Order: sequence, then structure tokens, then C-alpha cells
Amino acid sequence: MAQKNADGHGVVLFPAPFQGHINPMFHLASLLLARGFSITILHTNFNSPDPTNYPNYHFVSVPDGLTTPIDDVVALVLSLNANCEAPFRDQMSRMRSERGGEPIACVVVDSLLYSVQAAANQLGLPTLVLRTGSAASFNMFVAFPLLWKRGYLPIQDSRLEIPVKELAPLRVRDLLRVEKSSPQKLRELIDQVVKEARTSSGIIFNTFAAIEGNELEKVREELSVPVFPIGPLHKLSPKSENSLMDQDHGCLEWLDEQAPRSVLYVSFGSLASMDGREFAETAWGLANCRQSFLWVVRPASVRGSAQVELPEGFEEETRGRGKMVKWAPQQQVLAHPAVGGFWTHGGWNSTVESISEGIPMLCNPYFADQMGNARFVSEVWKVGIRLENGLERGEIESAIRRLMTGKEGDEMKRRARHLQEKAARCIRNEGSSHAALDKLVDYLLSF
Ligand code: UDX
Repeated sequence: MAQKNADGHGVVLFPAPFQGHINPMFHLASLLLARGFSITILHTNFNSPDPTNYPNYHFVSVPDGLTTPIDDVVALVLSLNANCEAPFRDQMSRMRSERGGEPIACVVVDSLLYSVQAAANQLGLPTLVLRTGSAASFNMFVAFPLLWKRGYLPIQDSRLEIPVKELAPLRVRDLLRVEKSSPQKLRELIDQVVKEARTSSGIIFNTFAAIEGNELEKVREELSVPVFPIGPLHKLSPKSENSLMDQDHGCLEWLDEQAPRSVLYVSFGSLASMDGREFAETAWGLANCRQSFLWVVRPASVRGSAQVELPEGFEEETRGRGKMVKWAPQQQVLAHPAVGGFWTHGGWNSTVESISEGIPMLCNPYFADQMGNARFVSEVWKVGIRLENGLERGEIESAIRRLMTGKEGDEMKRRARHLQEKAARCIRNEGSSHAALDKLVDYLLSF
């Protein structure tokens, strides 16, 4: 079937200013650009993208009113919502008058920016929501009031192992939580996200039917709005450079020298941090497992120290088989033939990127949806294992061996390759994500 061309139809996209949210929104933007839409990106000052990477987009700044850094992610998102609503209205009015009446078809907004979505609707603009997490995590959002009512939430340490039968196979310990944030504030945020998603014109997911068919069905049952599962977005879209930090491409040359499937890639995303003891346990777990590794250590990833200090003796122990970088070109790393496993925090982008390359995972979730993602990796798709007891060198060492060597590891690799094939099928011409994208384009053109 010939693809429709949008012929300059205008779409405005507003990503939440975090790496894990910017990446999927920009992949969506490049997909829509390729289909002929004209693209305007709204952005906050905090974590603003570099416009020189995107000569075909129009960029509009929405002042975010943030004057001091906010450590608590939930408080930060609530502040962004409080601060961005009025400037968003101003910018949209200005854009509409500058365009001389040329219509904006639709605003695609990250679901965390619920106040922006409400403001767009009040201005009479249709909104689509981009969910950068899994469909399962969104179902958890929808179930949040029930989870509170039934006593699963707020999470109590004595009840961590209790199964949440309403959200099988999750246990209480797999439910959404954000350390340092109040459970009540988190609930307030989630209630708003779900409320606005229900009144949106549709929800776009960076997931695909072959891994989350049941979860997507559940979303459709719960919300009477169109649902567009178009993942894995980074595979469906033309390549784009979305990284907020410089990616160290030198590690790809290092990988070129390693044996096929021999390297464990270690990265905990853009936000997770650990304390000094956990960092030392991680380092010794890697040293003691005798496996080659590529470890991403962001400068801010150890709490309480501006500079990351490696434990004494670590470098000698791992010389010749360990490489560390501050930030990696992750998608290229995971696609490299030398990589055989991914020790991850279980962020949704990382999970989808790993599945897309057939790489099994060792999950050590930190916060938010990561615990639930890890549960799906280990119990539903069975393409990885979860460190159940935090960071302890002995447990890390044996988990890495289980993942990278032996029969259990081989089984996980086999299933991971199978999922990779399913992901590849979804984005082919007749695949489910490709079809969902066609529907999304038609839908956008109908506004
Ligand atoms: C956050 C949440 O943790 C995640 O659970 C949620 O679903 C989205 O927002 P983050 O923690 O950064 O994101 O993790 P993740 O979702 O995995 O996104 C990280 C992104 O940064 C990935 O697209 C990854 O490719 C990229 N990345 C990571 C790099 O480009 N280089 C690196 O060295 C590490």
C-alpha cells in the first residue's frame, strides 16, 4: 500500500525533559517528518535539546521557571507542570498568530506533562499522549487508586513478597515507587496523568503487540481512546542524534577487538544513582566474575561524590578485559556482535533496545517502572534475571555467570533471539507497529 504524505501538516511535539523521554519523542518526530509532517518541538530550558542536530525542525522554548536543581523526580515533574502551563498557552497563541491562521493539526505531549495537555485541550487543540513506558506500567497507573484501596500501596516492607493478583505477575515489590518522593505526591501525579490520558484523542506507546499484546488489550478495555503501539520506535524511525550527553564512540572500537558475545554491557540509564558501598560492590562483582565488560559510569552516578573513585586494586584486576566510559552510544553498543549480555536498571528504553538486539538482561531496578519491567523480563519473556537482593558482590558474580555462561544463559539467549525476530517482524511493512503507524498518520491527517 502506498504511504500517505502529510504535505506539511503541522504537528507540535512536547517531550518531558529527561533522556528516557526525549529519545522516543524524537524518534516519533523523525518518523512523522519522513511522512511529510512539519515538526515543531516545544522544550523546557532544563535539559533542552540541541537544535543544530535537527535542521528540519522548528524549536520553541517554553520557560520552565526552575531556578534551583530539584533532586526529587516527582517534585520536579509536578513543578514543571505548575510552571509550564501558562508559558505553553502564550507560545501556542503566538505560534497560531505567526502562522497566519495555518492550522496546527495536533499536539503530541509526553504523558507526564498533564497540565500542558489540559491547556492544549482548552485551546481547542487535539492532543495525543506519548507514553514512553510499557503498556503494563500504564495499566499499573490506571490501577493505582485500587492498589491504594486494597492496601498494596503505600508499600510496606513486610508485604514486599505478596502477589498483586490484579496485576499478575507483579508482587508488591514490583510496584511503582520513587525513593525520596512522597507516596502521596506520586499518587497525585499518577492520578493526573491517567485523567488527562482518558480525555486525550489517543495514546501512542513505544511498545509492540508481540511482547505486550495482553497489556495493550487491557489499555483498550480501560480507556475508550485509540491506542497506537508503534515500538520499537528507535528501529522504526530513521536514525537521529538525541543524546543530551556526548557519547563516547571509542568504546565501539574497543568492542571490535573483543570475541563475539563475550562482553557484558553495564549501564543504569540517565537518572539512577547508587551510594559508595553499592558502587564498590558493583565494581568487585564485575572484577570477580572474570567476564569482559563495558561499564557506563556517569559522573553523577555515585551519590555524595562529585568524582567517581574506583576501589583500590580494581583496575589491576580488570586490566585488558574492562572498559569504562561516561556515556555510550547505547543502541550501537547493544547491536555490536561482541556484546552478549546487558546489566541494566530496566528503564523501558533500555529494555526495548535490548530486546530489539536479542540481548539477554541482568536487571537491577532502582525506581519507577523499572521493577515492573524487570519482572516482565524475568518472568514473562524469560530473557533475563533479576538481582533480588540489591547489590552484593557474591550475588552479582553468580548472576553474571548465570547470564553469560552455561545452559541457563544459553536458554535466555535463545529466547532473546526469538523476541528479536518478533520485534523485527512488527516493524516490517505488514507488521503490527508499521500498521499502527499508518493508522496514526491517517488519524493525524483527520484533524
Ligand atoms: C527513565 C526511566 O528510568 C525509565 O524507566 C522510563 O521508562 C523512562 O525514563 P532512564 O532511567 O534514563 O529513563 O532509562 P531508559 O528508559 O533506559 O533510557 C535511557 C536512554 O539513554 C536509552 O535510550 C539509552 O539508549 C540511552 N543511553 C543510556 C545512552 O545513549 N547512553 C548510555 O550510556 C546510557
